Amino acid sequence: MEPSHETTQTVGIEGLDRVLRPIAEASGLPNEAYVSAEYAVLERDRVLARGWTCIGTGAQVPAPGDLRPLTLAGLPLLLLRDREGTLRVFHNVCSHRGMELVSQPGKSRGGLRCPYHSWTYGLDGALKATPAIGGPGTRNCEGFDRKRHGLRPVRMAVWFDAVFVDLSGAAPEFEAHIAPLAGRWGDFGRPALHPGGPESRFSIDLACNWKLAVENFCEAYHLPWVHPSLNSYSRLEDHYGIEDDSGFAGQGSRVYSPRLNEEGRGFPPLPGLPDRWHGAAEYIALFPNTLLGIHADHFWVVWLEPLAADRTLEHCEIYYFDAAALGEAFGAERAANARQWQTVFEEDRGVVEGMQRGRASPAFEGGVFSPAMDGPTHCFHKWMARALG
Ligand code: FES
Ligand SMILES: [Fe+2]
Repeated sequence: MEPSHETTQTVGIEGLDRVLRPIAEASGLPNEAYVSAEYAVLERDRVLARGWTCIGTGAQVPAPGDLRPLTLAGLPLLLLRDREGTLRVFHNVCSHRGMELVSQPGKSRGGLRCPYHSWTYGLDGALKATPAIGGPGTRNCEGFDRKRHGLRPVRMAVWFDAVFVDLSGAAPEFEAHIAPLAGRWGDFGRPALHPGGPESRFSIDLACNWKLAVENFCEAYHLPWVHPSLNSYSRLEDHYGIEDDSGFAGQGSRVYSPRLNEEGRGFPPLPGLPDRWHGAAEYIALFPNTLLGIHADHFWVVWLEPLAADRTLEHCEIYYFDAAALGEAFGAERAANARQWQTVFEEDRGVVEGMQRGRASPAFEGGVFSPAMDGPTHCFHKWMARALG
């Protein structure tokens, strides 16, 4: 949906100019960016649907034939793994009368059958069967070419098991898009990633705009007050900010030493990592909606699913680099690690939801940034302002 001229004016282009100023004079995105349904549509069309946005992970469809329907800012999509093990994304809509094709996660037996008139598609999207299309007892019809009515594929890419889509089909190549971050984390290469299993996967339903979850994730500033226990093994003073105008920002910690058990035993690390990664971590928001955490022994991806201007689902999947970490011997540590991360994300609920409530106030006009502490947050705001403007 193209925004009307009126909509563009009411969503505050003037506010975007202020965002782009040097950090000491800048203010953040205007309140409308967090509360307005019109703004959310503009944002969907100009940002979420026009670049590389994360919609899920390969771990959600682990075996050939696995299907997972999902939405991106309200648009129905289908993530699946085909018979050869390749991930694919299609628009989740039947070519006949536009029925939502798959409504529940599950497994395909034989193909994707539309529940309405039973048209059936292969896992490659090809339309295979159209029963009674030419009348009872027929499978064909004069002038109807099945090849023209397959499922519409979505341009996609997979990186560190995160599935990204470009709905516009016009974004720069994914390889170029990800090159700066892939370079930063080049020590990890393209590692094997072992999902930790059901307990290493969780979703949090937040009463806030998705951008507030990104902003809060970018900064370490709040650590001592919001995450006192995390701050005990990864202190504010051990953190450094990360800003990259190509499209990511966040923070790193030089000291990451949680105690997952009495003996202080950790998971086996990725072999061959340089020393500087041992006992260290980086947390990077890959704009727009992907939050990544990397450590010598485990990795996680969080993707934000915007449901409304003031509601977001935050999904997390934790992976280990060494398959040995999945064994019985590490069961208790795996559970402790998952609990610990879930606790950290839950601890942020109060502040992201509180910032959302604050954005109903006319007394707040984007706020200010601390040049010393809020650089990564400002980096995200600038990226958003450029994408929207
Ligand atoms: S809408 Fe799918 S078969 Fe008719
Ligand atoms: Fe936090």
